[in-house]
Parts: sequence; C-alpha cells; structure tokens
Amino acid sequence: MAAPETKKRVYIKTYGCQMNVYDSERMTDALAADGFAPTDRMDEADLVLLNTCHIREKAAEKVYSELGRIRVMKEEAARSGRNVTVGVTGCVAQAEGAEIARRAPVVDLVVGPQSYQHLPRLLGEVASGRRAVETEFAIEEKFAALPKATRSQTRSRGVTAFLTIQEGCDKFCTFCVVPYTRGAEVSRPVAAILDEARRLADAGVRELTLLGQNVNAWHGAGEDGRAWGLGELLFRIAEIPGLDRLRYTTSHPRDMDDALIAAHRDLPALMPYLHLPVQSGSDRILAAMNRKHKAADYIRLVERIRAARPDIALSSDFIVGFPGESEADFEATLRLIEEVGYGSAFSFKYSARPGTPAALKDGAVEEAVMAERLARLQALVDAQADAFNRTAVGRVMDVLFEKPGRGPGQLMGRSPWLQPVAVEAPPERIGTIGRVVIDALVTHTLVGTLVDPPAGAWPAQMAHSAETAP
Ligand code: 5AD
Ligand code: SF4
Repeated sequence: MAAPETKKRVYIKTYGCQMNVYDSERMTDALAADGFAPTDRMDEADLVLLNTCHIREKAAEKVYSELGRIRVMKEEAARSGRNVTVGVTGCVAQAEGAEIARRAPVVDLVVGPQSYQHLPRLLGEVASGRRAVETEFAIEEKFAALPKATRSQTRSRGVTAFLTIQEGCDKFCTFCVVPYTRGAEVSRPVAAILDEARRLADAGVRELTLLGQNVNAWHGAGEDGRAWGLGELLFRIAEIPGLDRLRYTTSHPRDMDDALIAAHRDLPALMPYLHLPVQSGSDRILAAMNRKHKAADYIRLVERIRAARPDIALSSDFIVGFPGESEADFEATLRLIEEVGYGSAFSFKYSARPGTPAALKDGAVEEAVMAERLARLQALVDAQADAFNRTAVGRVMDVLFEKPGRGPGQLMGRSPWLQPVAVEAPPERIGTIGRVVIDALVTHTLVGTLVDPPAGAWPAQMAHSAETAP
C-alpha cells in the first residue's frame, strides 16, 4: 500500500445549495477509488475543484475571484515542481462551459452536474495535456453510474447525510436558471434510492435528508406495482433500520400532494420542519414569476399541512425587487409572512440571470429600494424565528447529537425543528438521540441539559436506535 503522503490529494470547495454538497461528497467518493485522498487545505491539493452555483450573479462572480487566487497558488506550486489541476464543476460549469476556460486560463477541466461519472476519464485527458470540457445532459446516465462509484467503498459518514432522489426542474419560474443548468425533472428509481439509503444507514447515518430541486415532484414505480410519490417513498425509507429521522428539501407548493401531507401526520420519523418556498405574497408578482399559484393557495396549503402536523416549523425563500414589484406588492409579501409565521426563512434581492425570461422584463427595481425591502423583510422573519426559538426554552425535546461542540465536554445536535442545540454530553453519545431540556437561547443556538431516563427505561425511539447500533 502506498504511504499516505504519496497519495494524491483533492480539495473541493462547494458553493450554493445542498445538492452541490451532496455532489461534492459523491465526487470525493468517486475520486477516492481513483487514488485521491480528500484534504481541507487547498494549498496542499493536487486537484482543486470548485463546485459552483449560478443562481444569483454574486454566486457566479465569486468563482472568478477564487480562480484569480488559485492562479497565484498554482504558479507558486509550479515553481516548487508541483503540478496542480484546477477544475470547475456545478452550475457555472454547466451554464458557461468553455467560456470559463477562456476567461480563466488556469482552469484545466470544466464538468457539468450531469457528467460527474466521467471525472476519472476527464482527469486522464488533462494528465495527457488536454483541457477537458464536458457539459452534456445525460442525467439518467449519471443516476445509473453514481451508485457504482461508491459501492466498492463507502466512506465513513457523519450522523446526517443527503441523498439525491430527484434532479432538475420543469417549473420555469421566470427568474430562475435551474431548469437550464440542471435540466428537466428526473426521478431516481426506488431500488437505487433504497440501496443508497441502506448503505448510508450501515455507515452510521441516523438522519437522512432527501434532496431534489423539486424533491416533492419525485415519482416512481413502487415495489407494490403502484405509482409512488414522495409520501409513499418516505414510508418505505422509514422502514430501514437505523434511519431515525427523515427530512426532504426543496419543495414546490404545487407538488405537495395528499399522501405527502399524510406522511407528516402519520410518519414519526418525518421531522416537523418543511422548507416550502413561496417567493412573494403578491398575486401579480407570483403570476409574473410563473409560480402557478396564488398567495391564498399557499396559505390554504399551509393550513392543510398544519392540520396534519400542528407543530411543524415552516421556512421559505423570498425574492424582493422582482421586476415591476411595487411597494404594495412588497407589503403583500410582508402580510403573507405575518399570516403564515415562519420558523426561519431565506431572502434574496432579485438578480437578473442571463437567459431567463425575467431578465428581459421592464420595471427594474432600484438597488437602494431592494436593499431597504430586504432589510424590512429580514427584520420580520428574524423576529419570527427568534419568537419560534424562544418557545423551545423550558421544553423537553429529542436531540440528535452530531458532533463535538465548541466548549469542552459539549456536543452539538439538532432538534426535530432543525435548531442547533448545545448540550454537555460524553462523545460516545454522538449518533444517538437524547432527551434534552432546553435551558436557554443564545443567539440562534439552544442550550440544554441531557435528561435521559436511565437505561432500560428509554423511550421507544431511543431503544430502537440502541438496538440497531453496531
Ligand atoms: N434572483 C434572486 N434570487 C433567486 N433565487 C433563484 N433565482 C434567483 C434570482 N434570479 C432564489 C429563490 C430560490 C432560491 C434557491 O434562490 O428564492 O428559491
Ligand atoms: Fe427555480 Fe422555480 Fe424550478 Fe425552484 S421551482 S428550481 S425556483 S424554476
């Protein structure tokens, strides 16, 4: 076996959404089979990959400034006789392709999200002195190829993991590049999903987040011969021993069907947290965005979800300053936020993206107006998030311990509502669920005390995870 220091090292910097986080993990797995050990230090890597995001202009521009720094680093390495290969992957790679290599000659390799299974071959091309650009759409092929890439070698995982079950988007919101960078909606087959979920559970994962750009548009042929949607799939995944907690993201309101809402009522492993972006509370803007629903439809949907799972925490994405957005439109968004009441939310200034229909619209909102609206919106959702977090103080809840905390003897975990919780507990509790009483809220973190009943008297969920531990 080669000494560790002779192994090639790969550094992957991940931008943007959780889909990219997942893809970076899968690339790390695939490259491990090819002799690359992961490193978290860019300056000692033989291969540097930027897994990029194209959703807003700022995200895309970050890549070019990072490539400027990488060029300096690569030149320094070359002076000491070390060759560094630089690749751009993800949505900027997909959207801009060979243009990246033209704008940033430091780049050796450009690979779109549907082509990661070809990374080892493309690296071979780079090694023989060619630049490699691959941005073909062959997503079925990616799903077919990816499980094999890790079967030989499942790296040890953390307590939580992502699993992509769906990719792409057919919704064509007028502001969004995703339908162009990630392609049409494709669902991964049930057997492949169950196979990967089992492998992750065997590797110690306790909480699984199912991913897709439109995850609740997932559909497939069920094991019972019926057509399954995400609701049925969640029930099936919950049967896998060891997977105590399930989540999914990101959902479109139009795809929340009855079976999925029922899963929130009937499936204890499905955590009471739902990211359900609405973008705007103005029907005029929702129509211009091509969201295919009105504000009242969304509010009715939220009522149905809350009827099924009264304690669910909701989160959303909002865009301020969409072309033509008036003060009255913006106030409608604030009213919707007040009516729904969120546990957390993400909000963005509208960013015109080349190739999207909204980029051609008149009525651009001034930067200063956007900034002012964003600040007002964020103040409102911050107050809601704070009020929501405060309701946790004094309550007893299940916390899944994920990793060591900042303080000595401390662990960090998550509540069912995805809130970070700091607790004094021994390191062997990592990967287990404990009963915790919440003592305080410190900025955005809950601080609590372990109040587990003595062994033998554990609640059912604890007993289950204890039995299935290796
Ligand atoms: N400008 C600003 N925000 C955007 N988003 C998507 N496209 C744009 C854009 N052009 C936001 C949406 C989406 C989130 C992932 O990013 O709110 O839900
Ligand atoms: Fe973009 Fe809309 Fe598709 Fe979400 S649903 S990825 S915002 S086009």
